[in-house]
Amino acid sequence: MDLGFKGKVALVTGAGSQIGFGKEIALLLAKEGCDAVAITDINLDDAQKTADAVKKLGHKSIAVKADVTNQVEVQAMVKKVIDEYGKIDILANVAGGIMGGGPLEQQKKETWDKEIGLNLYGTMFVTQAVLPHMKSRKYGAIVNIGSGSSHMYSHGVGTYAMAKAAIDTFTKQLATVEAKTGIRVNCVAPGPSPTNFIKAPDKQAVVDMLVKQIPLGKATTPADIANAVAFFASDISGDITGQVLHISGGSVL
Ligand SMILES: NC(=O)c1ccc[n+]([C@@H]2O[C@H](COP(=O)([O-])OP(=O)(O)OC[C@H]3O[C@@H](n4cnc5c(N)ncnc54)[C@H](O)[C@@H]3O)[C@@H](O)[C@H]2O)c1
Repeated sequence: MDLGFKGKVALVTGAGSQIGFGKEIALLLAKEGCDAVAITDINLDDAQKTADAVKKLGHKSIAVKADVTNQVEVQAMVKKVIDEYGKIDILANVAGGIMGGGPLEQQKKETWDKEIGLNLYGTMFVTQAVLPHMKSRKYGAIVNIGSGSSHMYSHGVGTYAMAKAAIDTFTKQLATVEAKTGIRVNCVAPGPSPTNFIKAPDKQAVVDMLVKQIPLGKATTPADIANAVAFFASDISGDITGQVLHISGGSVL
């Protein structure tokens, strides 16, 4: 199937992690035909590794450092990508992470601020920076990364899941507002996957424990997420906007 990526330029945030979703998304967008895939991450060395992997596939790429929670850095990063490639057709908002947990009485506001800042504001800041450019060209596909945790209440009270639930709402609001400007906005909500997202030393053990509650009985893989992001990024999903697609083995129905 031709995803129609020829001539397209993509920007993927949080794509530095060498075992994470962002790198897999960047590589798939390149393999499927995007001309250029710009990589951004708070960690420049890792972003450069992903950019090098994209270039090895024969596609253009640059690595740009930006902390998505810093609006000034985000604006400069987006300007650098547009200066380099002249446009951004596809934005994948992947940067995110979990920092807290435990009983509410023991949680710290500082952690709440960090989780909401990274997961919600980070996604909003990058989108805000890219949006005027997409609007001027009357074209854009934005894919946010949510989380199955926003629909799983047995894991306790946590601002990570709250921020991801807010991304679902942000996706639907923005999709509606931009429906007439040629910009589609969708969200992919992953299930547990042993990336650097899971901080425990034995990532697989944590995932194996979580997988017991998943109907399909398997962990989500970066390839599962990349496939769904590529679908939303492509014009083959041209009649779809404002949707949240759970890729989590049937754990959220
Ligand atoms: N892995 C899972 O189990 C899982 C499940 C549901 C949702 N998610 C979501 O998937 C997305 C990708 O996570 P992953 O599993 O690839 O994790 P990961 O930790 O492997 O990758 C996350 C990347 O984000 C980058 N990052 C962190 N803070 C940043 C900041 N302030 N600015 C810019 N970049 C920053 C990191 O350097 C890293 O490269 C996240 O939004 C996460 O919340 C993950």
